[in-house]
Amino acid sequence: MALLEVQDLTKRFGGLMANQDIDLHVSPGEILGLIGPNGAGKTTFFNCITGFYPPTQGAVHFLDEEITGWSPERVCQAGIARTFQIVKVLRDMTVLENVMVGAFLRYPRTADARRKALEVLGFTELADVRDQISRNLTIADKKRLELARALATEPKLLFLDEAMAGLNPTETNEAVAMVRRLREQGITMVLVEHVMKVIMPLADRVVVLDSGEVIADDVPAKIATNERVIEAYLGEKYRATD
Ligand SMILES: Nc1ncnc2c1ncn2[C@@H]1O[C@H](COP(=O)(O)OP(=O)(O)OP(=O)(O)O)[C@@H](O)[C@H]1O
Ligand SMILES: [Mg+2]
Repeated sequence: MALLEVQDLTKRFGGLMANQDIDLHVSPGEILGLIGPNGAGKTTFFNCITGFYPPTQGAVHFLDEEITGWSPERVCQAGIARTFQIVKVLRDMTVLENVMVGAFLRYPRTADARRKALEVLGFTELADVRDQISRNLTIADKKRLELARALATEPKLLFLDEAMAGLNPTETNEAVAMVRRLREQGITMVLVEHVMKVIMPLADRVVVLDSGEVIADDVPAKIATNERVIEAYLGEKYRATD
């Protein structure tokens, strides 16, 4: 049974079909890669699922409930968390406070939220900078902080939008290791990434979007040799990053 089931999802901005009749499921425990060229609709898809945009049409089911059009808070309460392509940390708050914002969703009492936040900061290796003002962090640490805040909400399903963009090779390897550890903890993930040598070994399955439509849904080895995918996206990109 699917953890997330998306049927016929369409998002229109005026005359632009950013997402078009998307059928997609996410199975429990899997890492699903979501790839495609710039403007293909990947972030829009995340926004429609996580409550930031109401879909124009279609249905989203998570676990046993229909969550179509729910608010971001309600979606998060149901067990779906996300990070943003452009990091959104609360710049003037400390690292610990940022993560507590996430933890409060599950733990209304301050002491409990703090305990949860500290646990997550340990897991994400941010404990050393917990009292720093967030705006002073490196981009890699800001991304990790955003992940920590998402994890503090205790998600069952996690959407990561280009979590590895802008990281150097060492930081990228650390981020990959983190994703593997999260999977061991039982968190199901959807990853949007442009770096094929990161996504291909990490993903169990890859869905490819092009101009808002799903053009392929398969295991990574088959995606890498899919003519339509190579033509629309992978061609130079895969070779360029290989
Ligand atoms: N709020 C919005 N209003 C109008 N158009 C939008 C809005 N958000 C996205 N779009 C448009 O929808 C299309 C899909 O954009 P989206 O950001 O989802 O692509 P993406 O696959 O995430 O691209 P990238 O890889 O560059 O991040 C683009 O043409 C974009 O300009
Ligand atoms: Mg995007």
